[in-house]
Amino acid sequence: MSPRAPAGPRGTVGLHEFIVMANEEVARDAYRLEISSSVSQGLEAGQFINVAVPGDASHILRIPLSFSRTDPANACVELFYAIVGEGTRRLSAMRAGAVSTAVGPCGKGWRLPDEPAARCLLVAGGIGLPPIFAAAEMLARAGVRFDAIVGAQTEAKLVFPLIHDLERLVADDCRVVVATDDGSSGSKGFTTTVMERLVSEHAYGCVYTCGPEIMMRGIAAIAARGRIACQASLERMMGCGFGACGGCNVPLISGGYASCCMDGPVFDAKAVAW
Ligand SMILES: Cc1cc2nc3c(=O)[nH]c(=O)nc-3n(C[C@H](O)[C@H](O)[C@H](O)COP(=O)(O)OP(=O)(O)OC[C@H]3O[C@@H](n4cnc5c(N)ncnc54)[C@H](O)[C@@H]3O)c2cc1C
Ligand code: FES
Repeated sequence: MSPRAPAGPRGTVGLHEFIVMANEEVARDAYRLEISSSVSQGLEAGQFINVAVPGDASHILRIPLSFSRTDPANACVELFYAIVGEGTRRLSAMRAGAVSTAVGPCGKGWRLPDEPAARCLLVAGGIGLPPIFAAAEMLARAGVRFDAIVGAQTEAKLVFPLIHDLERLVADDCRVVVATDDGSSGSKGFTTTVMERLVSEHAYGCVYTCGPEIMMRGIAAIAARGRIACQASLERMMGCGFGACGGCNVPLISGGYASCCMDGPVFDAKAVAW
């Protein structure tokens, strides 16, 4: 694979062409998208890219997507997305060889825990799994041990290819716990219930979470009660994606707002007015 657009300085946000290498359904209404693009060069775990989907001139907003993995040597980025509306539906129709553009790397991503020797806990809900997988790779590379909880409404919505790869990343004495709301796979119930059990068994140094906001609010509350640091990757509707429109505001405990696109998407959960 070779990049189609020249790479900007590492980490500098820019406009990059991409070519679709693969785009296939991997769970109910969830797709794995692999692109070849120079945007791969500067991406850090937890950052996102803003993808243009061609085919409808009235749809001018780009789609913000987190990534699960990058392979800068081969200019490759892997993303997973759920079909929720018109843009993601048209994205799912892009075939291998289709071209478009992505803006990135965008936002601020995950940080390593302050205490590297401590065990961490990752909690993903639904299509929040891709950035959690990127966090897992970041932690594994740094030699930080972690458990992971992966939740979905039902088995058909679990992104198994990514879950299996996550299982390969955890240390021998750690584990990945799957939970579904209806009990069709793994534990029956919410990720918060599993987290309550795990925090009673282990002393965690930091929690990393991404998923539906209501889930992250619960995860943040359990972490706060246990005095565990918590980083949360938030989702907002995004207009511009670079801090100009004020459309992606996140209310803060200290008063005022931060922008999800520039100050986030990863926030210290204690700072967010959930
Ligand atoms: C930083 C960031 C990273 C993201 N990463 C991923 C990812 O890795 N995989 C993935 O599947 N999705 C991800 N999303 C969400 C994704 O961007 C939206 O699902 C997508 O933009 C919807 O576009 P659409 O045109 O299909 O839907 P639209 O027609 O625009 O909207 C359909 C419905 O989804 C709601 N919606 C749209 N965008 C958002 C949003 N950003 N937050 C909450 N609700 C929204 C709308 O209110 C509407 O109800 C991310 C969002 C952000 C902000
Ligand atoms: S999307 Fe415009 S300020 Fe964040």
